[in-house]
Amino acid sequence: MTMSIRIEKSGALKPKPDEDKLGFGSYFTDHMFLMNYDTDKGWHDARIVPYAPLQFDPAAMVFHYGQAIFEGLKAFRTNDGRILLFRPDKNAQRFNRSCERLCMPEIDEETFVEAIRAIVRVEADWVPAKAGASLYIRPFIIATEPALGVRPSKSYLFAVILSPVGNYYGEGLKPVNIRVESDFVRAVRGGIGNAKTAANYVGGLKAQEIAAADNCAQVLWLDGVERKYIEEVGSMNVFFKINGKVITPALNGSILDGVTRQSVIRLLEEWGIPVVEAKIAIDDVLAAVKDGTLEEAFGTGTAAVISAVGGLHANGSMHVINRGEIGELTSRLYDAITGIQAGKLEDSLGWTV
Ligand code: COI
Repeated sequence: MTMSIRIEKSGALKPKPDEDKLGFGSYFTDHMFLMNYDTDKGWHDARIVPYAPLQFDPAAMVFHYGQAIFEGLKAFRTNDGRILLFRPDKNAQRFNRSCERLCMPEIDEETFVEAIRAIVRVEADWVPAKAGASLYIRPFIIATEPALGVRPSKSYLFAVILSPVGNYYGEGLKPVNIRVESDFVRAVRGGIGNAKTAANYVGGLKAQEIAAADNCAQVLWLDGVERKYIEEVGSMNVFFKINGKVITPALNGSILDGVTRQSVIRLLEEWGIPVVEAKIAIDDVLAAVKDGTLEEAFGTGTAAVISAVGGLHANGSMHVINRGEIGELTSRLYDAITGIQAGKLEDSLGWTV
């Protein structure tokens, strides 16, 4: 399907930020993609317009009951000046799984990817050239119907905004400390943990604040029932290398199905490194730190790509992993994924568009 997109160009372009000082999600480009939904017309009025505040009725359902989903992916500038997207079909598919879970109308995969290609093309000058930097793409849908009854909205806005970004963590690639959270939980099975929805992120803020007070950048989330099994790290999936084998929590309904997670599993298989998806008890991981068999730990996500875990803070003390240094496999994965994303390494798996 080819949709027609109306384009209204901004008359006043913003100055581009210094590529050395981008941080994460602080700058926004000159335009945004918008499309509306209502029950009569379905998705309609696809348009690219100047980036500007949006106006909604104070009763818009998103403000009250949180019917909101989002995605995150990136565009990269190659050395020969092309612009690549990394696996946008995977984001489109997960977007629709989130729509389904939150009773929102789906957007077909082709339309989703076409919207992203169109807005990135308009904003091509905003894709940073600096190694490690990229243009972060944030598609989202919010419920716009003014109504206070608790039920799915009848109208929605789909928007795509863009932000040139550097490293997610201020520390760059430096390993981060993680606090094992034994009180608060991120999600429970049967809940919304496997949907990319706003509520999952606000639910994590309290624990993140407590972690920061313990000098930890993120939280290690345990399962919501037994508080025994590892689920995620901050807003990322998590992997451990123990005795030469890589292990990551199996998707169980409360864990987000990360695109970087899928990519890491695929690459490890390509490289002939055993990778197991299973239930992982936090006690077994802490025991492996103690007896020296835990070689590496890292988080995976679109924003930070691969993030080394330098230490696990549990039961009041810090359990240091790999002397707090970045492990060999962690950096090999980081180099491989960022290399493919930036068009520096051969994309033999056909991941870039
Ligand atoms: C990611 O891309 O790892 C995330 O989910 C973080 C994002 C919410 C900023």
